[in-house]
Amino acid sequence: MDAPLVKTEVRGRVALLTLNRPQALNALSNEVIDQLAQAMRDFDADENIGAMVLTGSDKAFAAGADIAAMQGWSYMDVYKQDYLGGNWESLKHIRKPIIAAVAGYALGGGCELAMLCDFIIAAENARFGQPEIKLGVIPGYGGTQRLPRAISKAKAMDLVLTARMMDANEAERAGLVSRVVPLERMLDEAIEAATIIASMSLPSVIMAKECVNMAYEGSLNETLMFERRNFHALFATDDQKEGMKAFVEKRKPDFKHQ
Ligand code: HXC
Repeated sequence: MDAPLVKTEVRGRVALLTLNRPQALNALSNEVIDQLAQAMRDFDADENIGAMVLTGSDKAFAAGADIAAMQGWSYMDVYKQDYLGGNWESLKHIRKPIIAAVAGYALGGGCELAMLCDFIIAAENARFGQPEIKLGVIPGYGGTQRLPRAISKAKAMDLVLTARMMDANEAERAGLVSRVVPLERMLDEAIEAATIIASMSLPSVIMAKECVNMAYEGSLNETLMFERRNFHALFATDDQKEGMKAFVEKRKPDFKHQ
């Protein structure tokens, strides 16, 4: 049997997903994305999982969409398969938090996949870029839209138009990355963060993720109302009672995720 293109492992309430196409620096073929989307959907539906970590290898998180596969495609080929729709697009509907643990190259679709995750923990050797322009195309999975929101128009234009790579420290200064750690620490750091998230009440975690994502949609008045109504809704959960009672009683909460 062929090795899986995405390896999965469960550690407590955390699911670890590892892109596993090392010979092509984890280039993102449709098959890779199909396996990734299936695994993420399964973990999203699994009540024993509270958060996910997505990682690659020490050399590459992912060096982009699969150029070898794309090179012969015509306009009709990409249009008819709605390339980057379908399973690519479905990743954004995962409700549980996903941390990208990025070492090495995160380029093109690899950078876009990392940005689709909820936050990025980078190893010191991480390099981010949108080099599609060198191939005669442009980013197609959020690079021209998520990057300016994450790091400002100036830096996004610089990366998208010149194809230069940004190292981990520049990415952290720019706001793309939440933490930079030594390579040997990266996965533990991400799993520890995911373990903390998975220990919180799942309904509040999901609503928090939805609310932060809403900051990029609609007007401020609408999104503030969306946040307030979700805040109100959490008073319908058992976990809100337990969380506040535990604080008053000076003990750790015992969340039941409902
Ligand atoms: C297919 C890829 C690949 C890719 C690397 N490989 N990137 N195959 N698609 N995106 C393959 C190489 O062909 C090579 O295979 C093997 O991985 C190792 O790569 P090398 O180039 O030999 O490694 P190195 O010299 O260390 O250079 C690393 C690199 C370079 C700088 C990351 O590989 C590179 O520039 N890759 C392409 C990056 C890129 O342009 N990404 C954007 C893709 S377009 P062989 O068989 O020769 O050993 C894109 C569109 C986005 O992402 C649309 C939305 C998803």
